[in-house]
Amino acid sequence: MQSTTHRPMTSAILRFLRQPAVQWCLALVGLFGLMQGFTRHSIWLGLWGLTNDLDGISPFFATDLPYTTFIMFFHMITGGLMLVLATLQVVGPLRRRYRRFHRWSGRVTVGLGVVTATGALIYVARHGTTGGAFMNASSTLYGVMMLVAAVQTLRTGQRRAWLDHRRWGMRLTVLALASWLYRLHYTIWHAVFGDLWVTPDMRGPFDVFQAWGFFLGYAAMLEIWFLWEKHRSRRAR
Ligand code: HEM
Repeated sequence: MQSTTHRPMTSAILRFLRQPAVQWCLALVGLFGLMQGFTRHSIWLGLWGLTNDLDGISPFFATDLPYTTFIMFFHMITGGLMLVLATLQVVGPLRRRYRRFHRWSGRVTVGLGVVTATGALIYVARHGTTGGAFMNASSTLYGVMMLVAAVQTLRTGQRRAWLDHRRWGMRLTVLALASWLYRLHYTIWHAVFGDLWVTPDMRGPFDVFQAWGFFLGYAAMLEIWFLWEKHRSRRAR
């Protein structure tokens, strides 16, 4: 008796959960919940560095390079904001329903991407990274890839080449998310292995792997997914 009254309610809940908008909402709440710690850290560290003398407190603060220091802390703020906006850009129901928001937020995201990547590239060239040569090289590649993805997302959108625009937009979002995933990898690694293969000067085997893997790994996975999509649509045709 009880099970027959429960059945319509269960199927109503399942029907509700099957809606794409609801699934996106749940995914976003989960993702933003996980990302909020790093996003807040990035924006606050940026603001802290821009408004205080952090000489001897932060490794990114160089008194002899005031402009580079400014640019470095500024990239943390623009990067933190970009992380939120770039994620929202790939949400299908939001994009379809609020086109105007998608267009304007897209322009802001691209602008933030260009400023973040350019700023970080200047910092790498003028100040250098904690890890030295290999980390300078990987950060430079990361910055250039983000710049290219930001410019291409804008160009393909303006040309209304929607298939390419979708791909470049997703590449930009994945590259932005990689900056958070980089820290997430370290959190998981430290919880499981402690300080194994990690050194304070970021030259341990795991540091070296991370320097390249954190963005190239996800970028490669995305390209494989695009290939699979292409193959699937060709077969369907
Ligand atoms: C979504 C974008 C980004 C965010 C949110 C972000 C955030 C941050 C933060 C918070 C730091 C300080 C270190 C920490 O507290 O973890 C940092 C450092 C750094 N970022 Fe970014 N960043 C972003 C994009 C980029 C890009 C595109 C580059 C590429 C050139 C880059 C290069 C660097 C470098 C070289 C450092 C210093 C690493 C070191 O020397 O230890 N960042 N970033």
